[in-house]
Amino acid sequence: MECNSQSDLVSLRDFNMEEDVEDFLAWVGDSQVAKYTTWNPCAAMEEAKQFLVKMQQAVPPHESWFKAVCLNGKPVGHIKLELRTHENGVRYGRIGYALGREYWRRGITTQAVKQCLKIGCTDLSLESVEALVLPENMSSIKLLEKVGFQRSVSYYEYVNVKGNIQQCLLYTFHGSHVI
Ligand SMILES: CC(C)(COP(=O)(O)OP(=O)(O)OC[C@H]1O[C@@H](n2cnc3c(N)ncnc32)[C@H](O)[C@@H]1OP(=O)(O)O)[C@@H](O)C(=O)NCCC(=O)NCCS
Repeated sequence: MECNSQSDLVSLRDFNMEEDVEDFLAWVGDSQVAKYTTWNPCAAMEEAKQFLVKMQQAVPPHESWFKAVCLNGKPVGHIKLELRTHENGVRYGRIGYALGREYWRRGITTQAVKQCLKIGCTDLSLESVEALVLPENMSSIKLLEKVGFQRSVSYYEYVNVKGNIQQCLLYTFHGSHVI
């Protein structure tokens, strides 16, 4: 069922460590959600707390922007935008996201990614936003294409996925296309 924009509100906000960790565990503790992610699912609350702290930390030289995806105020997923700089000084972003399984296929991440692109390309003046995705992650690929990301046909990047180095596809959204 598509998210009804009349009554269902998708918003992005900072996580509150104490109040949100239980909701956070609902999706980061789900092995189905983590099937194609770089991270392993969290087994318990303490692990989820540590993971939340880690996700919010920037890994130099990149800055990090990490938000809860909320449905009518309740955190149901997360979205991350890593702020990077090309060798020529041009700034771009790397996006990542995950959503609780019971909320899949309702257009929630489509709305969250669009909001994130607006912030990245308008407020933060990024030239582009990239996403790396495993070739078998069709849900994510279809989502990126729906939102307007384009696949770089000749470019792959090797990524550490749960300890295995795997080839990921690169998708790029150009800032001038912001919706
Ligand atoms: C990828 C993910 C975030 C999609 O979130 P979502 O809120 O369900 O996506 P949306 O409802 O906005 O769907 C957007 C489009 O993606 C495609 N899509 C999403 N889920 C799909 C599925 N299970 N099967 C086929 N297509 C799917 C559809 O084309 C859909 O558009 P449509 O419903 O108009 O046909 C969600 O499946 C998820 O959390 N997966 C696990 C974590 C993950 O893989 N993260 C990405 C790592 S790169």
